[in-house]
Amino acid sequence: MNKNNELMNKAYDAIQNNKDLVNSDYYRLKYHTMPPTGLLNDPNGFIQFKGEYHVFYQFHPFGTNHGLKYWGHYKSKDLINWDDTGIALAPSEWYESHGCYSGSAVDDNGILTLVYTGNVKDIDGNRETYQCLAMSKDGINFEKYKDNPVIHNQPEGYTRHFRDPKVWRKDGIWYMIIGAQSIKEEGRALLLKSENLKNWNLVGEVSGSNINGLNDFGFMWECPDLFELDEKDVLIISPQGVKPKGDLYNNIYQSGYVVGKLDYESGNMKHGEFIELDRGFEFYAPQTTIDDKGRRLLIAWMGLPEEEEHPTTEKGWIHAMTIPRVLELRENKVIQKPVEEMKKLRKDLVSYNNVEINDEEITLENISGDVFEIEATFEVKDAKKFGMKLRCSKDLSEETLMYYDREDRKFVLDRNKSGKGYKGIRKCYIEDKKELKLNIFMDTSSLEIFINDGEEVFTSRIYPDKESLGIKIFANEGSINLREINKWNLK
Ligand code: FRU
Repeated sequence: MNKNNELMNKAYDAIQNNKDLVNSDYYRLKYHTMPPTGLLNDPNGFIQFKGEYHVFYQFHPFGTNHGLKYWGHYKSKDLINWDDTGIALAPSEWYESHGCYSGSAVDDNGILTLVYTGNVKDIDGNRETYQCLAMSKDGINFEKYKDNPVIHNQPEGYTRHFRDPKVWRKDGIWYMIIGAQSIKEEGRALLLKSENLKNWNLVGEVSGSNINGLNDFGFMWECPDLFELDEKDVLIISPQGVKPKGDLYNNIYQSGYVVGKLDYESGNMKHGEFIELDRGFEFYAPQTTIDDKGRRLLIAWMGLPEEEEHPTTEKGWIHAMTIPRVLELRENKVIQKPVEEMKKLRKDLVSYNNVEINDEEITLENISGDVFEIEATFEVKDAKKFGMKLRCSKDLSEETLMYYDREDRKFVLDRNKSGKGYKGIRKCYIEDKKELKLNIFMDTSSLEIFINDGEEVFTSRIYPDKESLGIKIFANEGSINLREINKWNLK
């Protein structure tokens, strides 16, 4: 048997052997993509190909740690029903012996082509990085390019932390943006170009730590992405090594963006400040694609590097992906909304209008559950604080708290009493206006909160007891009018 089939079979055996254990977990999500067993990290190769959406992911089938990485594969006609189509890439070749690392996908004249990083570690733990191609006609079965790797190691002036190619085509030329580290150990994003996906030339540095006003901005930039949005260019990066600053950058690593204009000749991008894409606890390595409706779609890893102790690990799996979001640009700020298609999952609507809440905490009949969407519009009166508690237990020992603090002008997510798993608080500035809108997606063990039609998003995993289903709505020191609340269970 060849090495590729051997590695594929080993992984399928692991999936089969763990199936019952994994599926016995209450925390398996109902409408998010997850690994069938083992660990999922970055989304890879997000693309619409021949009318179907594909998303691949970094996959370690043999444990919930960051071991030997494969590419797992999901595809979908509608961004909500996803088919697990098995494994796309196994690390069978010399240039990827320690993992098929992150990358992207392009449609090269009807051939679905993956561009990814082959990771190799020698016996001293030193790393080599190789950029590689794999091709598929049917979008399911991939064959590695015979002359891989197409890029051997990094250009001069950079270390071997050189990975995560994202490729796109513009005016008949292929461009690649790739994460890098300068020899001074500063994070970089580099631009390369090619006529055929096989021979690549360096164009230049797009941006990096201590460039364009990004002072002290990390020792490595992972998973860059670059695309046009509303006539501007948006560069997404996942920098490692940015220090916390008040409420900002509190996760181990961040993911965010800058907006500006890329000069395709020099490779340099003039841009503004870095803004975090998500304000919650688990969000990393987002990737985007454009679809035939012209939408710029984003999906991210609902997890973080170095978080390997979630309560699901005892059931043989860890991490998941976010729901897909659509990006828009409003005054140089990226606005993120759940894709319209999510509405097709709605059932069992319960609504209330104009509920006055005056320095109290209320419950509303049939507003409860563990797999739901809520849309709520609060008319702000004189309350100093107002918000909601989800996944409340009857004995009040468990709750996931979210509120707007008008004195601080901060939205707060507090998972200190959420149940099992990591704890903590995340906050983000929101202007104090007459109205606050929340669009909440709760799955058995995840929470995505879209504030004011996508102005900010908080994404987190939480692990409450399966009996903790209560929802409370409150206002402190004054009143609010809950103008409208709609709750749907999600299929
Ligand atoms: C980001 C990352 C990438 C790398 C992959 C390996 O989470 O470290 O830089 O390609 O994960 O799984």
